[in-house]
Amino acid sequence: MDTADDAGVYRLGEDTALVQTIDVITPIVDDPADFGYIAAVNALSDIYAMGGTPLTALTFLAFAPCDLPLEAASLILHGAGLALDEHRCALLGGHTVEDSEIKFGLTVTGTVHPDKVITNSGARAGDLLYLTKPLGTGIASTALKGEMIPPALEEEYVGWMKRSNGPAAAVMMKTGVPAATDITGFGLLGHLWEMCSGAGLGAEINIYDIPLMEGVLDMVMVGMVPEGAYRNRDHLKGKVLGSSVPDARLWPLYDPQTSGGLLIAVPPGRADILVSSLASMDVPAHRIGMFRSQPGIEFVTGLD
Ligand code: CO
Ligand code: CO
Ligand code: CO
Repeated sequence: MDTADDAGVYRLGEDTALVQTIDVITPIVDDPADFGYIAAVNALSDIYAMGGTPLTALTFLAFAPCDLPLEAASLILHGAGLALDEHRCALLGGHTVEDSEIKFGLTVTGTVHPDKVITNSGARAGDLLYLTKPLGTGIASTALKGEMIPPALEEEYVGWMKRSNGPAAAVMMKTGVPAATDITGFGLLGHLWEMCSGAGLGAEINIYDIPLMEGVLDMVMVGMVPEGAYRNRDHLKGKVLGSSVPDARLWPLYDPQTSGGLLIAVPPGRADILVSSLASMDVPAHRIGMFRSQPGIEFVTGLD
């Protein structure tokens, strides 16, 4: 628990450990089945980030039966079931409570070889840093709630959230990487900070190489920045250096992501094989910076 990793690992024997996680989210899309699907993909992601294979899941639903048709509840569960089926993860059951605010989440249990756990704290100075999805889900969902979202951005962010980190994780396991995590509530920089502090390192980030969803900057310009981004930014005060970056360009890096991409550390000598293997699975890999021994996260505007 000290390194705030994505999931807990419990050794069962020589070659098997349990890997367990729980994730609960509030609605971030209009369609209840999409919401359930995304919640499941988001929960599975923590197992994948650890290099694990999901086995079983339980659902948790907080629902307002007086305000909403029961059909919505079954659509949420249906969406989650669909995602679990696609990941060959068995749904064992679940629990529902009455609540005026909808929440839905899952616990997922998987297995991993005890020697092959990918933690968030194993990076070394000089390792390159790759990101597998563009940023912007928190900003986009704020824009959706504010009825400001352009249809193209809505389609794009829902698509990215539904996209599994499973294929990327399979590549990581095959290539062997020293550290990884998935980007969720603390935003890119919050999760990067956890990787840095867990490893006793800092990082250089090439700000203009960080992929953003199309239209996210426009949404930032009109104030669609979620509260969580302010909290994340506040939390990292004094830890992020480099001042010549326009504020609008910074907000997406603090934006809380739902079902965000993987942030992967890889030694330079193995980067090419990682990137080409990811490409063969149709997973984009954006090189966004590197780890260094000097502490702090620093923005640079041009890596070699
Ligand atoms: Co995680
Ligand atoms: Co999580
Ligand atoms: Co019960």
